[in-house]
Amino acid sequence: MAAVVQDAAKAWDRAAAGWDRNTTLIRAWLAEANEAMLDAARIGPGMRVLDVAAGAGDQTIDIAGRVGPTGAVLATDVAPAMVALAENNLRRAGLHWTEARIADAEALDMDGAGFDAAICRLGLMLSQRPLLALQGILRALAPGKRFAALVFSHAEANPCIAITSRIARTYAGLPSDHQPPPGSLLSLGEHGLVSDLLARAGFQGVSVRSLTAPFRVPSCGEYLDFVRCAGSPIMNLLRPLSPKIQERAWDEMARELDQFTTPLGWAGPNELLLCAGERP
Ligand SMILES: C[S@@+](CC[C@H](N)C(=O)[O-])C[C@H]1O[C@@H](n2cnc3c(N)ncnc32)[C@H](O)[C@@H]1O
Repeated sequence: MAAVVQDAAKAWDRAAAGWDRNTTLIRAWLAEANEAMLDAARIGPGMRVLDVAAGAGDQTIDIAGRVGPTGAVLATDVAPAMVALAENNLRRAGLHWTEARIADAEALDMDGAGFDAAICRLGLMLSQRPLLALQGILRALAPGKRFAALVFSHAEANPCIAITSRIARTYAGLPSDHQPPPGSLLSLGEHGLVSDLLARAGFQGVSVRSLTAPFRVPSCGEYLDFVRCAGSPIMNLLRPLSPKIQERAWDEMARELDQFTTPLGWAGPNELLLCAGERP
């Protein structure tokens, strides 16, 4: 496994408990987009489905519900703590036709597995080499079967991610990222990027459409609480800094993010890209 992927796995291990703890929030945030993604992959009863970068298995549970006990779902993730949580969540839900396994999306090694569908929810943009990931996913699918993914779109449509990333990078002493670096939250958001990657990986009938998915919580503080325990890329940028400097960074983020406070609570704009394609 590439060193950069190992580092990402460790960083996501540190955020795993926080991500899992916030499942209810994440579920509400992504509900519509999640259904659209499963529809785009045409997931239905009896199918064998691959879930890439599955995290704690939230969307795996929905897939398992669609395929039913005559189907099967393989949830994969690079972070062992995430996979352990997914295993636990799937077992507790009684979904015996699911399995969770540690796997790097960039080195899937599932050629010829003949899956009936594959999905990746908010994971592809975290890959340093998304083309490798897409090529591996394509080879894991049976001919004529579909892959669908959700990634964040560009910075202007995702101001909260742009703000937290910019402030964290500034405090970490990194140059401002006019182009989001590979593997970062907004790395696949620019127009044409993800469709080009899907086509280059060999998918046909590629489609990309944007979906709005505002993140709603009662207060700005609650959004930052989420980022502080589950937002691995931001947490990781601030981690080397002293607790005092980290607090300054979080305070600065809170001041900027307060612009999204409304009379009905806090609503951070988010735009996702739903991309899909079929193995020829
Ligand atoms: C934002 S979380 C999304 C988790 C889950 N899909 C969800 O929507 O709840 C991103 C996930 O991608 C995983 N990830 C990051 N890089 C990966 C890689 N190279 N291979 C597999 N998983 C990866 C992380 O461990 C993390 O669980």
